[in-house]
Amino acid sequence: MSAASRAVLSWIAAPGRPLDGRLRVPGDKSISHRALMLGALAEGTTRITGFLEGEDTRATAAVLQRLGVCIEAPAEGERIVHGVGLHGLRAADGPLDCGNAGTGMRLLAGLLAGQGFDSVLVGDASLSKRPMRRVIEPLSAMGARIDSEGGLPPLRIHAKNVLQGIDYKCEVASAQVKSAILLAGLYAQGPSTVREAHPTRDYTERMLAAFGADIEFAPGLATLRPGRRLAATSVDVPADFSSAAFFLVAASVIPGSHLRLERVGVNPRRTGLLEALRLMGADIAVRPAGEQGGEPLADIEVRAARLRGAVIPEALVPDMIDEFPALFTAAALAEGVTTVSGAAELRVKESDRIAVMTAGLRALGASIDETADGALIHGSGFTANTDPSMALADRAGALRGGRADSQGDHRIAMSLAIAAQCAAGEVRIDDVANVATSFPGFEALARGVGFGLRLA
Ligand code: S3P
Repeated sequence: MSAASRAVLSWIAAPGRPLDGRLRVPGDKSISHRALMLGALAEGTTRITGFLEGEDTRATAAVLQRLGVCIEAPAEGERIVHGVGLHGLRAADGPLDCGNAGTGMRLLAGLLAGQGFDSVLVGDASLSKRPMRRVIEPLSAMGARIDSEGGLPPLRIHAKNVLQGIDYKCEVASAQVKSAILLAGLYAQGPSTVREAHPTRDYTERMLAAFGADIEFAPGLATLRPGRRLAATSVDVPADFSSAAFFLVAASVIPGSHLRLERVGVNPRRTGLLEALRLMGADIAVRPAGEQGGEPLADIEVRAARLRGAVIPEALVPDMIDEFPALFTAAALAEGVTTVSGAAELRVKESDRIAVMTAGLRALGASIDETADGALIHGSGFTANTDPSMALADRAGALRGGRADSQGDHRIAMSLAIAAQCAAGEVRIDDVANVATSFPGFEALARGVGFGLRLA
């Protein structure tokens, strides 16, 4: 379903049973976007397996098709991208719709900045409110011409045949900004270097190397030298840690739970939540399970545990930037106060995640003080009682039933569904259709391991 035609859906969530079983979550969203883009710019045919069949990544595929790239979908989770080479894209006949995807729009802005034709990137209502100056500025410094009103989408990217390399220090910790610069750097004269105060996920760097680009990188530093053609390869996408994260939190807080998550991508730039949950006393075992597509994999086993509030180290923030909605839920059920700071970026995600999570959890009785760059979450102490046999209504610290709004943010919908498993009454969660952007099938998978969750 496209973002434009998406129905407004709600969930009814209520306590199910202790979570139990093994599961595999869908493919990594960040890697799926990048595999499509580099496959399109390569010479030859790139086969992608484990591709995320989400609305975000499908929107990126559709954009590339509009730019003249043939992409086949022979089976669920598979794409064959017939690369057109670095200079083989052609102008689309109208605006390019990135849907809800910040990653799609920001990376495509970099990729399109050095093409010999004009492009217009548009997005849905949420994406249309997200800041784009962070990519417009460095790309403009490279010579790109990009118009936007107030730094917001749509982005009108003018034809520009040659860009200049740049040495850029990223002020915001953002893999999307870094990636936009590196992709534009493929079309620049001279090298492009990106320096990061806080290293972010390095998938663009790794994948550019796998496609044969001349790139050197280490945490916090990447230099791309243009001039080499990209050569098609195969990309085997690992399971998305950010999707696994919901189950790590759910099994930690729902008494009596025991889950095994299989073959999850555990790139260290993604797994900050593991450390945060461990600081809170979570019972999580991570067993290495080899590699997939050059990415480390692990089987992760998690059991319910008595969680305690913690001060989340600011240094962990970039490594768990997408996991804060789930962490807020864990913190609301732990004993004592959890402090989140240095996370102002959360305010410019698919929603203002600090405000929307605070409002959603408060509607279920949680106590949270918002701050400019985080929150103080006063835990209810629900996880203190790990006896699964006691009725929820009798448990100290259970949240209450009610109605909460995800405001169209996929990760908030799933995080509130976890909170509802620990509520003494039914919870209606509104505006959840967006879960399909990153985690198609969440509802059925969650129900299969014990969640009480259905469409309203
Ligand atoms: C992503 C980077 C992060 C993350 C997003 C995916 C990527 O965004 O929140 O879900 O694939 O590069 P920022 O670059 O804005 O931090």
